[in-house]
Amino acid sequence: MKHITKKEILDMPRLERMHLINSCGGVKSANLIGTISNQDISNLAVFNSVIHLGSNPPMLCFMLRPITVARHTYDNMKSTGEFTVNHIHQDFIQQAHQTSAKYNENESEFEAVNLDTYFLPEFKAPFVKFSAIQIGCRFVNEYHIKEQNCHLIIGEIEHLRFEDNLQHKDGWLDLSKAKTAGIIGLDGYVATELLDRFAYARPNENS
Ligand SMILES: Cc1cc2nc3c(=O)[nH]c(=O)nc-3n(C[C@H](O)[C@H](O)[C@H](O)COP(=O)(O)O)c2cc1C
Repeated sequence: MKHITKKEILDMPRLERMHLINSCGGVKSANLIGTISNQDISNLAVFNSVIHLGSNPPMLCFMLRPITVARHTYDNMKSTGEFTVNHIHQDFIQQAHQTSAKYNENESEFEAVNLDTYFLPEFKAPFVKFSAIQIGCRFVNEYHIKEQNCHLIIGEIEHLRFEDNLQHKDGWLDLSKAKTAGIIGLDGYVATELLDRFAYARPNENS
């Protein structure tokens, strides 16, 4: 087995280090975050850091890179108080990836990559129309992570939309059936294949 030390990591060329450290933590979620500016320009960007935070009240969070450069998702979310999280379907991974390009603030990534918007009445942020699972969130709080100069963004789930055939009787959503993609590192997209589900684990009950 290969063994790499912290010193070797720090001595690596920047891109090699970035790919290595971004992929070693495991497969990550693949989402498009939708926002809208005060000038009504819809914005869309790929994020691989969305995770569940808690279900009562229902909340999720994601990591935002340092705001030392223009971050349209952040600016829009702060000014409207809303954002959407849309699962990346296997069929549009290339378009989804393209949203990471630095588009001008007057240009909508929805149009640039040819993904349609969907709007709910009385909710400003745009959803990705063909995402099988769509979540409308209200910005709740942000925490500065001083070690990396990042921000952890907390959102409360106000709307949850998903295709009819995805939910099991116990509430669970079958992301495999939804053909939701996952991400390895910053550029590797994977399919989700369900291997099994298990009962709530208790000591001495391993069957
Ligand atoms: C696969 C992938 C995952 C990404 N995940 C994140 C993330 O979790 N947090 C983040 O701040 N930027 C992330 N980015 C970078 C943003 O997509 C990129 O900075 C984008 O231009 C932001 O757009 P905006 O300025 O419209 O918000 C990711 C990029 C890629 C390619």
